[in-house]
Amino acid sequence: MKKATKAFFLSLAIAGATILSGPARADGNLTVYCSVQEEWCQLMVNEFQKATGITVAMTRKSSGETYAQVKAESANPKGDVWWGGTGDPHLQAAEEGLTEAYDSPMLAKLHPWAVKQHETAQKRTVGIYLGALGYGYNTDLLEQKKLEAPKCWADLIKPEFKGEVQVANPNSSGTAYTFIATLVQIMGEDEAFKYLKALGENINQYTKSGAAPAQAAARGETLVGIAFQHDIVTPTITSNAPIKNVSPCEGTGFEIGSMSIVKGAPNMDSARKWYDWALTPEAQKLAAQANSYQNPSNMEAPIPEQAPKMADIKLIDYDFAKFGSSAERKRLLGRWDKEIGAK
Ligand code: G6P
Repeated sequence: MKKATKAFFLSLAIAGATILSGPARADGNLTVYCSVQEEWCQLMVNEFQKATGITVAMTRKSSGETYAQVKAESANPKGDVWWGGTGDPHLQAAEEGLTEAYDSPMLAKLHPWAVKQHETAQKRTVGIYLGALGYGYNTDLLEQKKLEAPKCWADLIKPEFKGEVQVANPNSSGTAYTFIATLVQIMGEDEAFKYLKALGENINQYTKSGAAPAQAAARGETLVGIAFQHDIVTPTITSNAPIKNVSPCEGTGFEIGSMSIVKGAPNMDSARKWYDWALTPEAQKLAAQANSYQNPSNMEAPIPEQAPKMADIKLIDYDFAKFGSSAERKRLLGRWDKEIGAK
């Protein structure tokens, strides 16, 4: 072979090898808006990239914040998939036409509650996990302050808990919106707002993210943190933290963590690939590896042994269609802003 021809073939081979092994193989891109814990978001992204060669850009934000971002970008969508976070804002996005209808071939493998979420949203969202609301208290602080262990929602508004309770802001956090909707369903709306006002006297901080109060209670920065019960379990496993999980005596609400494809997603094929893959038992098993202990939606995905036992929790019959509707979520958040947040 002539020298010049040889050099030409050599450069072709190098270019080929670069394409095949480089980080951005010609397999596509995907932008994921992730609303669960960062560690789980990262693991999902890494494993999906390995499995498909698709390059993922991921942003982690709370559920209410992501809803607001998807809405703000709707004229010129930048995200492809919104994965995780409480179901209510996903349902609101669906109703407002911000997300895309999709029938995954994986639907047949899901628990009925996950499929029902898909039906309620006219196929624009789907259930990926289940988690019950509750609160955790720091056992060391409780002993130091010589307080009786709280058992009910009602206990958290007692004067001895002044400045000792933390919960997220329901505008940014789906967890905190689930809390309001839960109280409204247990007590009726006016009683629930009276309760929230009284609770306001005991709140030391309204955080941005829903799981932050559980982490703060685990670190001893607040006595009580209201959060999903699986978020209270996590620090007991990762750092053996002195935090005890409470399933409130009046009963409690729960979330159907959801996933949606953004309407007009720039990378629609990759978005569908993520969606199908995220519903497989293999992908759902990654949660526990990332110390997230929800109940997965695929019937073949194992429930982590550390997950709070749903059968032992007094769950209310949460009305997702109502509390995930655009009008109701807007109205309740508006009332919270006026009566509680603006205080
Ligand atoms: C945590 C929980 C999830 C929940 C999410 C909601 O990550 O583990 O189960 O869906 O919080 O987050 P947010 O910040 O919107 O309350």
